[in-house]
Amino acid sequence: RTVFPQDALVDRGGYRHFMLKEIMEQPQVVAGALRGRVNFDAGRVELPDFPFLEDEIRDFRRVVLTGCGTSLHAAHVGRYLIERFAGLPAEVESASEYRYREPFLDSDTLVVAISQSGETADTIAAMQDAKERGARLLSICNSEESQAARLADGSLYMGCGMEIGVASTKTFIASVTILFLLGIYLGQARARLSPEVRRDLIADLASTPRLIGEMLADVSQYKVLAQKFSGYNSFLYLGRGINSAIALEGALKLKEVSYIHAEGYPAGEMKHGPIALIDRNMATLALAPRDRLYDKMAGNIKEVKARRGIVLGVLTEGDTELAAEVDDTLFLPTAPEHLYPLLATVPLQLLAYYIALDRGCDVDQPRNLAKSVTVE
Ligand code: G6P
Repeated sequence: RTVFPQDALVDRGGYRHFMLKEIMEQPQVVAGALRGRVNFDAGRVELPDFPFLEDEIRDFRRVVLTGCGTSLHAAHVGRYLIERFAGLPAEVESASEYRYREPFLDSDTLVVAISQSGETADTIAAMQDAKERGARLLSICNSEESQAARLADGSLYMGCGMEIGVASTKTFIASVTILFLLGIYLGQARARLSPEVRRDLIADLASTPRLIGEMLADVSQYKVLAQKFSGYNSFLYLGRGINSAIALEGALKLKEVSYIHAEGYPAGEMKHGPIALIDRNMATLALAPRDRLYDKMAGNIKEVKARRGIVLGVLTEGDTELAAEVDDTLFLPTAPEHLYPLLATVPLQLLAYYIALDRGCDVDQPRNLAKSVTVE
C-alpha cells in the first residue's frame, strides 16, 4: 500500500483510491464552484473576486489561456467558451513553451493562468513574463496560499478541497466550471449575452451536478469495459470542436494511470496521419454526443470501422443508430450541447481508472509523475 503523508489529514472516504473518491466528489465540486457566483433570478454571473472593473473588461481585446498538463486542457475548453460567450479572440498557450517565446502582450490582453496547485514552475514563469509585459493577470487555482494566487491581479478559486490523486480529476471539472462562468461573465460585461440567454446558461450549469451524479450512480459497466480494453497497447481519442479538448484530456488520463499509449486528436485531423495506425489492434474512443458536429463524428466512426478498428463510442442516450455502428458504448445524458465537455469528462476518467486497476497500476501515484512540478 502506498503511504501518503496526507493520510493523517484526508482519508479515502470509504473508496479504495483517492482518484475514485475525487471522481465521485464531482457533483459537489461543480455545485461548489457555482456557489455565490450566480444570481438565478437576474440571470447574472457574479464574480466578486474578479480583479477588473466592467469598463476595463470592455477594453480587453484578447484572452490568452495558459497552463500545463490537465490545466492546459481546461484552457482549451475555456478558449471555446470565451470565444462563444464573450466574442473575444482567445488563444491557448502551453506555459512551458510560452515562457520561452517573445509573445506580444499588452494591457488590453487578459492572461488566464490555470493551475490547481498554483506552483507549477512553467506556469509561474509564464505568469511572471506576462506581468512584466503589462498584461492583466487572472489565475484559476485551488490554493489561496500559492505563488499563482500571489502573482496574479486576482484569482478565482476552485474551492474543491485538496486533490491527492496525482492525475487530476475534480480540479479539471472545477476549472472548466469556472471557465464557463468566466465566459458568461465576460460576455455579460461586454453586452454580448441577453439576460434570457444568460438565465438559460446558468440554469444549464445548475443542472450539471445532478447529471454528473446520475452518471456516477452505477459504475459496473466500466469494470466490464476495463477487462475488454485493458489489453490494448494503443488508443486514439477523437472529438470535435470543444470536445476535442476532452479527447486530449481523456487520452492523458489513460496514459497517466494505466501506462497505455493514448493520443488525443481533433477528429478532423484523423485523415492526416492517425488513420494509418488503424487496424483491429487499435482502440478508438470516439466522443460523438448529439451536438452540431455529430454528423462529422459519425463519419469518422464509419471510417475507423471500415478499417477494422475497434470503436468505443461515447454517445448521447437513445442514440441507437450510432450505437449499432460501434463495438461498445458509454452513454451521456441528454443535455444542451455546451454541457457535453463537463459531462463527457466523467466516463473518460472512470474508464482510465478501471483500466489502470485491471492492469494492477498504482492509480493514485503513477510511476514517474509528480502532483506538482515545481522544477523544470
Ligand atoms: C503535473 C500533474 C498533472 C497536472 C500538471 C499541472 O504534471 O501530474 O496532473 O495537470 O502537473 O499542474 P497544476 O497544478 O499546474 O494544475
